[in-house]
Amino acid sequence: MAQTLRVNGHEHVVDVEGSTPLLWVIRDVIGMTGTKFGCGIAQCGACTVHLDGNPVRSCVLPVSSVGNREVTTIEAVGATDSGRRIQEAWLAVDVVQCGYCQSGQIMSAAALLKRTPNPTDADIDSAMSGNICRCATYVRIRAAIKQAATGKIAVTQAIPVTAIGGRK
Ligand code: FES
Ligand code: FES
Repeated sequence: MAQTLRVNGHEHVVDVEGSTPLLWVIRDVIGMTGTKFGCGIAQCGACTVHLDGNPVRSCVLPVSSVGNREVTTIEAVGATDSGRRIQEAWLAVDVVQCGYCQSGQIMSAAALLKRTPNPTDADIDSAMSGNICRCATYVRIRAAIKQAATGKIAVTQAIPVTAIGGRK
């Protein structure tokens, strides 16, 4: 079934079954591989993209349900104000370890910052709780979100290794 998708500001005509998960279409049909497959059952957040600015798990979203909504992926979230600030803070705080979960983390954080410009710890925990990081970068993720919100450096390289899951 041919369907037109708007992804990162461009239209793509894709010929797939309507039940195909959006993640498969983004990665295997359109060829953008920044969005990751982790669990495939909406439990890890690695596949998070935005639909009209709202975070969704693309591994369980049938492509037929996207409709006319704008899909934004990690490849283009930096063109949004919240996405740009999150990515700058991610680099400043040096969040990333292996990196596999980080596309999804950034997409969830950018959506949070857009709807809640000054999130509390509870806001951050609530918005980010569905994004799993095997490298346990959670302390730095929280610090980076706060830095993106306030412009202030909330954490430095002085974080003990044991507090961030054995970062090397
Ligand atoms: S791959 Fe979609 S939530 Fe894990
Ligand atoms: S940085 Fe390795 S899984 Fe999150």
